[in-house]
Amino acid sequence: MDALPPGTVTFFLTDVEGSTRRWEEHPDAMGAAMAMHDQLIGECLRTHRGHVVESGREGDSVLAVFSRAGDAVACALELQRRLAGMTWPEGADIRIRIALNTGAAELRGGHYYGQAVYRCARILATAHGGQVLVSQATSELVGDTLPQGAGLADLGFHHLKDLDRPERIFQLEHPELESNFPALRSQDAYRHNLPAAPSSFIDRPRELAQIKEALASSRMLTLTGPAGCGKTRLALQTAAGLVERHADGVWVAELGALQNPALVATTLLHRLGVPEEPGSAPSETLTAYLRTRQLVLILDDCEHLADAVAELAGRLLAAAAGLQLVATSRQALHVTGEATLRVPPMALAEAVALFSDRARAARPGLTLAGQEEVVAEICRRLDGIPLAVELAAARTNVMSAPEILQRLEDRFALLTTGPRTAAARHRTLQAAIDWSHELLGEPSRILFRRLAVFAGGFRLEAAEKVCGFGSLRESSVLDELGELVDQSLVQVYDTAAGTRYAMLDTVRAYGQGQLVAAGESEELAGRHAGYFLRVAEAEGPESAGWLQRLDVEEANLRAVFEGRPEAEVELRLAASLRGYWDARGHSAEGRARLTAALEREHPDPALRATALRGLAFMAWAQGDYAASTRACEEAMGLYRSLGDRAGEGMCLQQLGQISFQAGDFGRAREHLDAALALAEDIGDQRLVALCQFRSGVLALFAGGRAQARRLLEASLDSGRRQGNEPLVVAALLVLGHLELRQRRHARARARFSESLRAARRHSGPRQVATMLDGFAALAVAEGQAERALRLAAAADRLREEAAISPNSPFQRDVLERLRPARELLNAQGLRAADEAPLARDEAIAYALGEVTD
Ligand SMILES: Nc1ncnc2c1ncn2[C@@H]1O[C@H](COP(=O)(O)OP(=O)(O)OP(=O)(O)O)[C@@H](O)[C@H]1O
Ligand SMILES: [Mg+2]
Repeated sequence: MDALPPGTVTFFLTDVEGSTRRWEEHPDAMGAAMAMHDQLIGECLRTHRGHVVESGREGDSVLAVFSRAGDAVACALELQRRLAGMTWPEGADIRIRIALNTGAAELRGGHYYGQAVYRCARILATAHGGQVLVSQATSELVGDTLPQGAGLADLGFHHLKDLDRPERIFQLEHPELESNFPALRSQDAYRHNLPAAPSSFIDRPRELAQIKEALASSRMLTLTGPAGCGKTRLALQTAAGLVERHADGVWVAELGALQNPALVATTLLHRLGVPEEPGSAPSETLTAYLRTRQLVLILDDCEHLADAVAELAGRLLAAAAGLQLVATSRQALHVTGEATLRVPPMALAEAVALFSDRARAARPGLTLAGQEEVVAEICRRLDGIPLAVELAAARTNVMSAPEILQRLEDRFALLTTGPRTAAARHRTLQAAIDWSHELLGEPSRILFRRLAVFAGGFRLEAAEKVCGFGSLRESSVLDELGELVDQSLVQVYDTAAGTRYAMLDTVRAYGQGQLVAAGESEELAGRHAGYFLRVAEAEGPESAGWLQRLDVEEANLRAVFEGRPEAEVELRLAASLRGYWDARGHSAEGRARLTAALEREHPDPALRATALRGLAFMAWAQGDYAASTRACEEAMGLYRSLGDRAGEGMCLQQLGQISFQAGDFGRAREHLDAALALAEDIGDQRLVALCQFRSGVLALFAGGRAQARRLLEASLDSGRRQGNEPLVVAALLVLGHLELRQRRHARARARFSESLRAARRHSGPRQVATMLDGFAALAVAEGQAERALRLAAAADRLREEAAISPNSPFQRDVLERLRPARELLNAQGLRAADEAPLARDEAIAYALGEVTD
């Protein structure tokens, strides 16, 4: 056997799920299966340069180490793929779980000692059979070297048994791996959306203690103070300490990049992951959502939206007793009950600590010994403003501390007189930014001002495409960006969506001034709009990751709309985001954007028709059927004048859907018949299948079961042939209900199960809740009262969490049929009624019979 590698290695730990029980029940089969398992692991380890650690072996567990993290991940992937394809002996269809962690360990006598191995074992303990979990350390090393088609899904931070530091855990994903697992078996899963800190935090014990004290007695605290003094950082640091104390966690909404005060409530909904509720204002949905929760909401950088934030905050606090708000703003917001705390600049010792920390980061190995007085003088000159201190410290990569002081003194000669008021500090900060900016080379300066066009951060690729033109080549953007990061003018964040960059607001505002002065702002706005239009149009909701990519770009997308780009760009962007807005439940914002874009002049009728259909869809989702019909009819008129029959057919079926939802079954029938005839006429098979589905649902209400069955089965067959998964899922669900009405329970279960399995991964709360209702109705029919109640309660919880109400005749009908059962059960006061309802994934597993209690 090869020698085991010393130093920093990646640990690869596996075990077999539920092996004890299997050994007891099927010892022979397990013996054979384990021999197959051992052989397969041996092969995979050899292929990927892994080394088995014999002494780590315990039961069916295997410990191996890799010199390269990428090899370990590739090995885990191959192993799970091959295991999934094996035929196991009866009673021994084994599933293994794998955990990977990287770290230093001491190798003695063929055994590794240290935290890293231990942590790996703790991560493994949270995993499920078939799953591969990767620690943050390993995920960072793997970076871009993931095997083809593989990805890492961020499962968030988890507390592990006996370990203080929570671990951020990732799940290895690949189209051939299973990916739907119940929640990790960790001590807890944090509920928060706090960003990972971009740099180390310098303790400010006085301010942190004051904040804590203020939060003990008021439900709203605003941290005020001049730009760059550390309000945001203090709020986030405080928030991190609160996560565990609030059942529903801590959530941050970054408002710095938001321009439109009308969108404050919408932004908060989006940050909390709550869809907009059809027919009610976002602020009402938000209030309803928060009413029953225990959570902390951080409203960061509010000063430019002070009135809107104050008004909303007042309403939320009045309605939601378990809510606590922490705002940061240069001025107080004047909300009743608001406590304010003025964040002063850093104390000298803190500023010195910050300078030293950032100086060492800029120039590793640097010692400032003997220069304490110089550093202290620099910090005094900068008024202890953290942002100014960071900018100066970044210069230590090319200047000594005395040189920095000298330059600052020259520069600030005029600034250091007079009282140290907020306005004076603001001038200090501006001068510090100015100084930092002037020391940049010309290409960095060009990039700096151009980057100010981005709102809410950007990816490298966006910077290259938007800012790399003219005298700044696309290929040099990376180098210049590195320079700006080194100078602390741009911050780097590791996020679940990859590396992102952003400027602090004050710095960005300065950059925007430079952009205007250079006469480039219009050109940049155009390039920015063009880039995000390409991002939005490149793919649709069916491609993996599209929604997540748009989620992180929300502020940029809004900036495009609010910058009023060319009419055509605006309309195309709005039209292409329809699927995004729908999937995220952002129908109010979508509708407003589409409406605004459609009000402008457009030469292209086909584009206009697409946008109108989008508008019809958004209005439909909000239950505004009249507006929806108007938009759809206008779109249909345009298609007709263009001779676009496929477009006309889509409008007809959409009109059918609108009428059905509005309860006008006669109209719905007319539209759907016309749509079907047209689709058959032009041979558009996807449209035929869609019309059959809609007509099938309609037939359940206003037709006959035989007709419904024929249509639904036809649409299911076509959907399968065409690989149209959403249609298949929907048709199976409705067919399940049809079987149920005909008392064919086994068939109903088969349909529901197939539908739910297919929908499990991608479906939103509305769809999953409807499916759980189906299972509940089945349980009622089978006389399993308690099961029915649990499923129905889980469906209600999903709807309640997402603040959605059932809005189709179909959903209402299912609920109606469940009602007598619920009333009966509640009257009997069954135990299930007192239990906390199952969460989404648990409920799915329960519905599918994967778990029995
Ligand atoms: N206690 C701290 N430890 C480490 N870095 C800090 C600390 N406080 C502030 N900083 C750094 O200083 C810079 C400015 O801080 P921050 O963004 O929190 O200021 P702010 O008061 O929110 O400014 P603005 O009014 O512009 O929003 C940031 O880069 C931040 O990381
Ligand atoms: Mg701030």
